[in-house]
Amino acid sequence: MSLSGVLLVILILLTLLLAVFHYSSKGRKYWFFRNVPYREPCPLFGNFGATFTMRKSYTRMLQFFYDNFRDKKYVGLFQARRPTLMIIDLDMAKTVYSKEFQCFSDRVSASTDTQREPLLRNLANMSGAEWKAMRHIVTPTFSSAKMKAMFPLIADCAQTLKNTMLKESVDEVNVPSLMSRFTTDVIGSCAFGVDPGSLKNPESPFLKMSQKMFKIDRSTVLKRYCRTFFPRLFKLLNLRSYSEDVEAFFTSIINQVLAERRSGVQRHDFLQLMLNEQNTNSCFQMTDALITSNSFIFMLAGLETSATTLSFCLYELARDQDLQEDVRKEIMECLERHNGLNYDAVIAMHLVYRVVAETLRMHPPTPMTTRLCTAPCTLDEHLTLKLKDPVLIPIHCIQRDAQHFPDPDKFNPERFVDDLNPPGFMAYGEGPRSCPGARFAQLTVAAGLAAILPTFTVEPCERTTPRIQYDPRSVMLKNKGGIWLRFAPK
Ligand code: HEM
Repeated sequence: MSLSGVLLVILILLTLLLAVFHYSSKGRKYWFFRNVPYREPCPLFGNFGATFTMRKSYTRMLQFFYDNFRDKKYVGLFQARRPTLMIIDLDMAKTVYSKEFQCFSDRVSASTDTQREPLLRNLANMSGAEWKAMRHIVTPTFSSAKMKAMFPLIADCAQTLKNTMLKESVDEVNVPSLMSRFTTDVIGSCAFGVDPGSLKNPESPFLKMSQKMFKIDRSTVLKRYCRTFFPRLFKLLNLRSYSEDVEAFFTSIINQVLAERRSGVQRHDFLQLMLNEQNTNSCFQMTDALITSNSFIFMLAGLETSATTLSFCLYELARDQDLQEDVRKEIMECLERHNGLNYDAVIAMHLVYRVVAETLRMHPPTPMTTRLCTAPCTLDEHLTLKLKDPVLIPIHCIQRDAQHFPDPDKFNPERFVDDLNPPGFMAYGEGPRSCPGARFAQLTVAAGLAAILPTFTVEPCERTTPRIQYDPRSVMLKNKGGIWLRFAPK
């Protein structure tokens, strides 16, 4: 190549490098100009380089900022290039959740490209009037009366969990994997009216597909980061949040159930309520596609979260045999008083509820939530948020803050003795956009414990990690190395 050719290549490379540098560092003074405390970001990855390279979990990075800016009300983060305001002050978090809800009614959605990925047009991702209408339809599904009517389905799955554990080897159990089989059966049964058969058959196609949804191998992790932080690149590369076979499988199951229901079968479940809505003359257009995507979010939002909670809960109980014995006594006493595992027996288990709440305080499966500013809002005398400013609430950091929960690293269910929802507890979020499935999740977890503990003692085994360390590959809280425990028949 001639000298001028070499120079031309060098010039093009330099221009490209400069363009990348300019693109990735543009906006790095965003928080400086708004008088918000922040830490200088690095180009491209912002403040989350260690998370991109999977050296530190997302939660650990949030904890780092929370601890370093604890004396402030908020801190400005750069998630890749995107500036996000992380709230530190509890009152301000409550303002965002509830008091000024009209200014923060949307969540920062994973993807708005619902043409390409129709399953993402669901309650958790929806915004504005569409979200409000859908939430109005979904909320009654979780009323106490509906939960009571649905409980026999949960109890059936809990019984199958116990029978499965009596049959399988339980000397060294991969607890999250077993609990996911249980929660897959619960959600399949209560949300779609099908029996996924995950407990009876670990090779069940339903289970295989739901496992695929929650896979956290390296390529899935990178894809998720790309979707969150570089949405345009995600679209350009034609990447998808869930593989096409997962989409096709769940869409086909829901279509089959819809056909069944239209031929006269009726059930009191989520799908039926949406189907009923289709037949009313309301201004909301409930299409089959919307029924499908919103049934899908039940799987997505409910399955792993409940399984993770049960797993962390069993881990904590295995480490505290006295507490485990107290919980067992209460369960057995309630089962006897109410003639078996039913709704009334479970809601009488006060210690169980406290233990589950403390598990969720220490290890909230969803360690943070977000809101998108939907109308300009003055948060304090120094800061007015603009339309589309993203806000992050670090649930895990707030729940591990000694100012809200003294001795925060100690597992102590007695914190919840007077109030199951004390200030600072927000594992299900808060306000009009909080988790609609909280009560359902509590019943599922309590039923799981009520099935296991009277029959088995749960103990650490050789593979049990001495402490919980969050897996850097997952945004949802999971223990690195898994949760392995021994279940000894009593
Ligand atoms: C222990 C189990 C669970 C935990 C810890 C949990 C936690 C959460 C959290 C933190 C949020 C965000 C709330 C906010 O932004 O304020 C959320 C939203 C949501 N959860 Fe759950 N969840 C659980 C179980 C479930 C279950 C079982 C279902 C359904 C069957 C469910 C359905 C949803 C939905 C649909 C949303 C979005 C609500 C909206 O945007 O209006 N969750 N959950």
